[in-house]
Amino acid sequence: MPDSLSSLYGGRGIAFTHGMGSHVFDSADRGYIDFFNGHGASLFGHSHPLLTEALARAAKGVWTSGAGFESPVREKLADELGMMFGGGRVFLCNSGTEAIEAALKLVLTLRKERRRILACRRGFHGRTCGALSITFNPKYREPFMPLVGKAEHFSMDDLADNIDDDTAAVFIEPVQGEGGVFALPAKTGIKITEACRKHSALLVSDEIQSGLGRCGAPLASSLTGLDPDMVCLAKGLAGGIPAGALVWKKELGDFLPHSHGSTYGGNELAATVSLAVLSMVMHSDLPEKAASSGEFFRSRITAIRSSHIKDVRGMGLLNGIELDIPSVGVVKALQENGLLSLTAGPRTLRFLPSFAAEEKDFEDAAIILARTLEGF
Ligand SMILES: Cc1ncc(COP(=O)(O)O)c(C=O)c1O
Repeated sequence: MPDSLSSLYGGRGIAFTHGMGSHVFDSADRGYIDFFNGHGASLFGHSHPLLTEALARAAKGVWTSGAGFESPVREKLADELGMMFGGGRVFLCNSGTEAIEAALKLVLTLRKERRRILACRRGFHGRTCGALSITFNPKYREPFMPLVGKAEHFSMDDLADNIDDDTAAVFIEPVQGEGGVFALPAKTGIKITEACRKHSALLVSDEIQSGLGRCGAPLASSLTGLDPDMVCLAKGLAGGIPAGALVWKKELGDFLPHSHGSTYGGNELAATVSLAVLSMVMHSDLPEKAASSGEFFRSRITAIRSSHIKDVRGMGLLNGIELDIPSVGVVKALQENGLLSLTAGPRTLRFLPSFAAEEKDFEDAAIILARTLEGF
C-alpha cells in the first residue's frame, strides 16, 4: 500500500478479490466473515443480486446527468426518501460528512439569528471542517482548531437541559458508532426532542451509521425517542456505492436558491442503486430481522467466558464489546482468525454485520471471538 494511504488509514495487509453475502475472499482465496463491511456501507453484504442488477441496468444508461437536469431516477429517489420522513425535502450528496455539511448549512440558513450548535460527547459526525466542528473526539478535532465554528458538547443526559432560545440545532446519533456504540435511551431522546420543540431548536439525527434498518427500523431515531427535523443518511444508502442524503421536514423551509450543490449528488448510478436499497429497507422484514439477529449475536457473545469482556451492547446490527485490553490488537487477531471487525474507541470492538449475515455466521463469529480472546 502506498505511504499516502497507509499513513491515513493504517494497513490491514490484505486485499479482497471478491465477496458473496457476508463473506469476502482475499487474493489467496481465504474467506473471512465480514462484520466490517466497509465501515458499515455494505449493508446488504456483497454481490446482492438486486443491487448488482440495478447497477448493471444503470450503467447502460446516463451515468451522471448533473443536478438541474430532469432525471426520473433521481426524482423518484428524492420522493421515496422524502416519504420516509413524512413528505420531506431532500438534498442528495455522496457521503456522510457531506450530508452533515448540508445539514449545518441548512441550520445556518433557517436559524440565522442563533449562535449555539449543540452535539453529544463521544459523538462522531465526519471529518470535513464543519462536520469535524461537531465531532467530539479531540484526537480528530484539535489538529485543525479553531475550525470554522464552535459546537458545544454535552453528555446524552445533560443535553436537553442545555438547549435554550439561542440554540440553532442539536446534532445527535441515535446510536453512537465510532464513539463506543452507545444507544440513546428512549427516555433521554424524548427529553431532547421536547426541549428542541420548546425552544424551536432544530433536531438533526445523524443516522449515517445507524439508519436504513441496521438498528431494527428504517430510521433509528424512531427507536430512541427522537422526532428529528432533519435526518442525515449515507453508508448503506447505495449499499457501498458513495451516496448520502439530507432529508428534512418540508414545513421548516429550504436552502436559499443556488446556495448549495454537489456535482455527483444523486447521479444516476448511485440513485438507481439507492432506490433498490430503499425498496428493500422499506418493504421487507430486513429491519426486524436485523433486530432479532443482533439480539441473537449479543446473546452468543454474552455467553463467552472471557475475563476480557466488560460489556456487550448495541442495537440490531451495530454492536460493541468493551474489553479490558486495547481493541486494536484484538481486531488484528480476529482478522488473522477469519473475522473482520473494527474498533469503536481504544477498548471497544465494533461489529457491523450486513443483512446478509445468517445465524451460522453469528455463531461462527462468536466462536472465533472466544478463541481469539483466549490468546490475550
Ligand atoms: C455517525 C456518522 N456520521 C458521519 C460519518 C461520516 O461519514 P463519511 O465517512 O461517509 O463521510 C460517519 C462515518 O463513519 C458516521 O459513522
